[in-house]
Amino acid sequence: MQRRVVPMLSASGLVVGYGANRSVLDRVDLSVPDSGVVAVLGSNGAGKSTLLRTLSGTLSFHGGALHDGQVKLDDRPIQRLSAASIARAGVVQVPEGRKIFAKMTVEENLRVGAVCTPPGRRASARERVMELFPRLAERLEQRAGLLSGGEQQMLAMGRAVMASPRVLLLDEPSLGLAPKLIEQIGDIVTEISAQGTPVVLVEQNAAMALRVAATAVVLEVGRVAMSGEAEQLKDSDGIHDLYLGGHSHPAAQDVDGEVEGEATDLPRRRLARWTA
Ligand SMILES: Nc1ncnc2c1ncn2[C@@H]1O[C@H](COP(=O)(O)OP(=O)(O)O)[C@@H](O)[C@H]1O
Ligand SMILES: [Mg+2]
Repeated sequence: MQRRVVPMLSASGLVVGYGANRSVLDRVDLSVPDSGVVAVLGSNGAGKSTLLRTLSGTLSFHGGALHDGQVKLDDRPIQRLSAASIARAGVVQVPEGRKIFAKMTVEENLRVGAVCTPPGRRASARERVMELFPRLAERLEQRAGLLSGGEQQMLAMGRAVMASPRVLLLDEPSLGLAPKLIEQIGDIVTEISAQGTPVVLVEQNAAMALRVAATAVVLEVGRVAMSGEAEQLKDSDGIHDLYLGGHSHPAAQDVDGEVEGEATDLPRRRLARWTA
C-alpha cells in the first residue's frame, strides 16, 4: 500500500514538563499515518498520557508546558492552537479514566461529543457509534454512571467518534477491564481504524496493543526506547526487557467481567506473551 509522504499527525523533538520538572518528555518523536493504529507502550509514569496531552493541546489543563518541538497536522504546526481548535481540526482524545458525565444519560453523553460536529454530519456519526457499540444503542436512556466499566469505556470512545475525528487518541482504554473486554476493545479499535480513522493507542497492555497496531513506540521515562513495526517489536527480545506491562492479570472478575479489588496480589508487571 502506498503511504502519503507527509504523516497526518506528527510530533518531533517534543520536550515537555510540569513545573520545575521540565523534561517529562525528552525529545520524543511520533508519526501517525493516515490509516492504521500506532501503539504507544510504556510502564506507569513513562510519559504516555503526557504525549497524548501534547498532541491534543490539553497539556496546560494539567499544569504542563511544551518547551521545545513541534506537533503538525497535515504538515501544519498546531502546537500553539487551543485544545478546542485542535479538537475541531479533528484530533480527538479519549482521556485516561474515561471522564464520562456520570449523571447524564448515554444519549446525552453522545450528544456532548457532537457539539463541534457540523449538524449535517451528526446523524451519520451517531449511526457509526450505534454500529460500533451495540451495547450503547441498547442503553441510550441509562445514566452513564450506572454502566459497567467496559460500557463506560465504550461510551467514552463513542463520544469521541461523535466528534467525527480525523485521528483518535486513546489513553489506556483497557485499564481495569477483564481480558474478554480488553479483546473487545481491541476489536473495536481495529474496526474504527478500518473505517478510515487512524488511532493512537496508548496502552500498558502490550499484547493487545501490538495485536491491533501496525507500528509502535515504547516510551521509557520520557524517551523513545524502541520504535518500529508492531510485528517486529512483538518478536524482539528487547521489548520484554524494556517493557513490563501492567494489568493483564486481574485479581478477580464479577459477572460483568469487570475487575474487582486490587490486582496487586497477583504478579504484576508481567507479560504472559513474553514470559511464557
Ligand atoms: N499533572 C501533572 N503534574 C505534575 N507531574 C505530572 C502530571 N502528570 C504527570 N506527571 C508526571 O509526569 C511523568 C509522566 O506521567 P504520565 O504522562 O502520566 O505517564 P504515563 O501516562 O505513561 O503513566 C510522571 O513522572 C508523572 O508523575
Ligand atoms: Mg497515563
